[in-house]
Formats: sequence, structure tokens, C-alpha cells
Amino acid sequence: MSYPVITPAPTPGKTDWFQHDRFGMFIHWGTYSLAARHEWVKSREQIDTETYMKYFKHFDPDLYDPKAWAKAAKAAGMKYFIITTKHHEGFCLWDTKYTDYKVTNTPYGKDVLKPMVEAFRAEGLKIGFYHSLLDWFHEDYTVDGCHPMRENEEYIAHDAERDLSRYVDYLHKQTEELMTQFGKIDILWYDFSPRATDRFPGKGRDEWRAEELIKLIRSYQPDIMINDRLQIDQDVKTPEQFQPRGWLHVNGQPVVWEACQTFSGSWGYHRDESTWKSVDMLIRMLVDTVSKGGNLLLNVGPTARGEFDERAIERLEGMGKWMHHNSRSIYGCTQAPAEFQCPQDCRLTYNPETNRLYVHVFAWPFRHLHLDGLAGKVEYAQLLRDGSEIQFVEGKGEAQTLHVTDGGAGTLTLMLPVQQPCDVPVIELFLK
Ligand code: GLC
Repeated sequence: MSYPVITPAPTPGKTDWFQHDRFGMFIHWGTYSLAARHEWVKSREQIDTETYMKYFKHFDPDLYDPKAWAKAAKAAGMKYFIITTKHHEGFCLWDTKYTDYKVTNTPYGKDVLKPMVEAFRAEGLKIGFYHSLLDWFHEDYTVDGCHPMRENEEYIAHDAERDLSRYVDYLHKQTEELMTQFGKIDILWYDFSPRATDRFPGKGRDEWRAEELIKLIRSYQPDIMINDRLQIDQDVKTPEQFQPRGWLHVNGQPVVWEACQTFSGSWGYHRDESTWKSVDMLIRMLVDTVSKGGNLLLNVGPTARGEFDERAIERLEGMGKWMHHNSRSIYGCTQAPAEFQCPQDCRLTYNPETNRLYVHVFAWPFRHLHLDGLAGKVEYAQLLRDGSEIQFVEGKGEAQTLHVTDGGAGTLTLMLPVQQPCDVPVIELFLK
């Protein structure tokens, strides 16, 4: 028998594979990778387009090897990837026919997107496209509170001549290219709808002609998942750079969700950023996410020369090592049924197909882990890392059992070694 779990209501796209796979790679790559100080550098430093062109003129990722990227993602345990086809700066990674501001016109001179899609597909990963709704290059994109020229009165004065709807035509046309030239696309991840400020209006579903856009996308890619940032909820909610406290709900209903996270705060390559998360923290973030029924989309910002930097590689490898032994507690898993109480300092995940419950021990306790409500329900327990048996006693209080310091009628007590046997240990419980 297996226990009932939370299942979000179906959405227009296909999300079953997504809810099974749980772990993906985000990639932010563009001409901001040369500035190497955040992908918002053009806006943050209010750089005009003419000055910013120096990055375009020097974009030449001579070490770019998408096969190496795809292998690194796969080895980390990631099952899909999402690449910035165009970020807010407006630079396009593919050979679009609608602008000259594209990779084929840089010194590199070649399309980078197609080989990337092919390489990831060859490694068996699903394909996602990030696409920016903001565009700080396009001549018809009007100034808003995020725009690099938001304090440049002369530039702002020209807004009267700008026709946002022409930009939106461009957005639709480019989307059509992306939906028709790269085979099956599994996710389209738009970013984002800027809010109004005191001075500037915002942009949202009406400006983007979002309904029409969604129709267009689905006419080419009926199963595709679309995110929530067009201001029309579709298949997935995308909390960013924080860990939600529980399963994400919209209007009281649980939804499919994916937390997107960085290694170090910046999405684009940032040479001098020093707040890199440890492998241990990243593993716990992945586990925490799945324990709340979500996915983790973890970002890499490749360098200007086209490589993942060493700090990223080290973390991907660390996660891959852990996933090698423990991915069974991630793939196909979700939030544990409510009747299983999570012990202190732990996270639970549950696989309803195999009827196994996974206890991730974030802080190793001394000798005993008490699982309330599980007495009589577990057939066998093992450390997932090496398949070594974890012995347990059931329903016994302190008085009756030599080594058990606490417990009660419904409690199952795992007998643990004194020393923590590995990083983020997982105990696999085969339920009856
Ligand atoms: C934000 C930022 C952006 C990043 C994205 C990822 O909305 O504008 O730079 O690409 O989040 O979620």
C-alpha cells in the first residue's frame, strides 16, 4: 500500500516529467559575462548602449564546449536545463533574423544555442529556454524603473517616439523562432513583468499580449511548460533566491513550483563575488525543496571564455557525488504524507511509487532518531549511502530498551552510529 500525497491540479502543459526529475541547471550567459560583475551591470551602472557595446565587440568564448557543460550538468544529477536565449541586455544567443545584436555578429561569429541544445539533448536532459521580456537594447523598448537610462532625461524624452507594440511584435517573432528552430522545447521561462514606479508605468500581460503569445507558443509546442512571469499563471511558479517555508499555494491550492537559486547571488558570471554557498548547503537546499514538493533550478554563470569556472565545477561535482548515492531520495519523490512527522533537524521525502520514505538528517543526533507515528509501518531501514542496515526498535520507551533514551507507543527509534557516516546522510525506510 502506498500513502496519498499532495497532487497539484493539472495545468495546460505537461509537468509529470518535471515533478519526477526535480533538479535542473539554469545557465545565464551573455555579454555581461565579460563585465563579470552581475548580469544587471548595464542597469546597475546605468551604462548607455554605445559604451556597453564593448562587451559585444569582444564576445569571443574560445573555450566554449557545450558537451562539457552538458556532461557536468548530467554528472551533478540534473535532468533538464534552462538557458538564457536573451537576457535583459537584449543580446541574442542564436542566429535570429530579427536583430543584428546577436552572437553571430560578435568576433566568435557562430551560433552558440543550437550546439548547446544538441549537447544537452544528447546527454538526455530536457530543454528549457529562458527569455527576457525586458530589453535594454531594442529601440522601441520604453523606459521603466529597471531600465539603464531611467535617469537620462534626454533618452527618456525620446520615449514619445518609441512604440512598445513594435517591440512586442519582435518578442512574439523571436519566440516563434525559438519554438520552431530547435526541436522539442520542454520549458519556456519568461522573465519578467516590471512594476510601475512613481515615474514610469509597469509592463505586464496586456503590454506583452500574453494570451496571444501563449497561444502562439502552444500552437508549436503543445506540451511545453510556461512559467508565471508573463502575469498569467501557466504551469509553474518560480520563487527566486529564497527557500519557501512549505509547498507553494495559489488561491489556496498547491501548485507545481520550482525555486531558482544561484551559487553566489549573481546569475551572470561574477568574478569577485564571494558569497558562494557550500556543497553541503546546496544539497540541503535541494532536499529541502523536494521535501516541500518543489524543484530546484540551480544556476551557473559561464565565463566570457565559455567555461564553467572552478568554483561552480567544484560544487557541481560535490552535488554529483552525493546524488550518485542518494538520488533515490530526490527523483520521483515529493513531500511526505502529513501523517509522518518530521523529526527535529531532518527533512522527509517520499516516493509514492516505491512506497519508501527518506529521512535526511541535517544535524546528526547522538545514537537515536525517533520517528513518531512510524511504529509498525516500517519493514526495513538502511543507510542509502551504502545500503547498510539501520536497526530500529518500535513502541518502546526508555525504561524497556537498553539503548533507547526516549520513545513511545507509536514511535519507531532508529539506532544510529555515533559518528555521522557521510555528508547529509539519508535513511531509506521501506514502508509496509
Ligand atoms: C530576475 C533577474 C534576473 C535573473 C532572474 C532569474 O528576475 O532580473 O537577472 O535572470 O531573476 O530568476
